[in-house]
Amino acid sequence: MTKLLFEPFRIDQLLLANRIVGLPMYLAYPDPDHLVNDLVLDYYAEMGASGAAMVVVENATVEPRGLCNPRTLLTGDDSRDDRFLPGLTQLAAAIKRGGAKAVLQIHHAGRYAKRPDRVAPSAVKTWGFVPKVMDLADIERTITAFADGARRAQRAGFDAVELHGGTGYLLSQFLAARTNSREDAYGGDLERRMRFPLEVVAAVRASVDTGFPVGYRFLADEYLPDGLTLADTIPFARKLAQTGVAYLSVMAGGYDSFSLPGYLEDDRKEGFMVPFAHAIKQALPGMPVIAAGRLQSPDTAEAVLRAGSADLVGLGRVLFADPLWPRKARGEVAEPIEPCQPGCVLCNRRIIEQKPAYCARWPEERRQQFLGRVGG
Ligand SMILES: Cc1cc2nc3c(=O)[nH]c(=O)nc-3n(C[C@H](O)[C@H](O)[C@H](O)COP(=O)(O)O)c2cc1C
Repeated sequence: MTKLLFEPFRIDQLLLANRIVGLPMYLAYPDPDHLVNDLVLDYYAEMGASGAAMVVVENATVEPRGLCNPRTLLTGDDSRDDRFLPGLTQLAAAIKRGGAKAVLQIHHAGRYAKRPDRVAPSAVKTWGFVPKVMDLADIERTITAFADGARRAQRAGFDAVELHGGTGYLLSQFLAARTNSREDAYGGDLERRMRFPLEVVAAVRASVDTGFPVGYRFLADEYLPDGLTLADTIPFARKLAQTGVAYLSVMAGGYDSFSLPGYLEDDRKEGFMVPFAHAIKQALPGMPVIAAGRLQSPDTAEAVLRAGSADLVGLGRVLFADPLWPRKARGEVAEPIEPCQPGCVLCNRRIIEQKPAYCARWPEERRQQFLGRVGG
């Protein structure tokens, strides 16, 4: 039987060789100067050659106030600052050399930024700090920063850009009533809370060429009693489609829910975020959708595509644990897939400690080599 997993798929001008996407995984590999270094280049070269059709580079931050961690990529301090372009250009090339399409995820952490000048839609105390409430000048500056980041992604040779609307970061902070109590045009009912992310999408769309895909990491459900649910996010998805978003990469949960028992329990299950992708795909049949969430076996991934729950399958920890997943799924490598261990938090723990992440499933020799390289 022909596997859907290895059928090509088109997103705007982007022709993908198969249905496998390397999801963005923040791994704390950049140096604290936010520049692309050899560790970043080697990792993404491996992802680009993994057999995934498209690789999304993690949370490149569009302005310093949005940095959630010092060891994070930055696209520039402001509109004049092109000093990160050469590194980003090398990064796009490293991915494309391996045969994959390269996508840059652009990002702003909002209230989760680890900076004294952090900003957010409202003064919600976060990790012990109250962020500055964004005034209209902050809003304008941030929209410009996203547009600059997208323009730089295209100039650097990336094939597409993806806005990070997931994990509870800035774009979703505006959308969620829980974190947006503004009384101006950017807060209030759902329509008004959508305004900021939609203005960001429109500015990004206008800053890149027609046909250059602008994707969106889409938070379908926050896993919180007072958080976003599909009742809010499906109408938002429709607006994103009207604003020119090329695909939705569907995820669920965020910082405020990642340690809750309900999320932790679901996170152990294969395909746990697929029902959210399915709901979005049903509501917007014409919109390319990427599913995520422990898509551990190729059979599960194939079943997700056959059920029409998504057009593409996204692998995060799954591909990190076994970069040969696509080749093994295709039968090019005979060994069994090394699974990401449910309940293991090593990669998360490393980034929280601001140390470059590695995987407990890597062979001993690879782990030792990595630890030697990064100094433990
Ligand atoms: C260590 C780690 C870092 C992550 N970094 C990002 C990120 O930078 N951007 C993003 O959109 N999602 C990020 N995610 C979420 C993943 O892309 C993915 O949605 C999630 O891990 C579920 O898929 P998986 O089970 O295949 O890992 C991260 C997840 C982990 C575990």
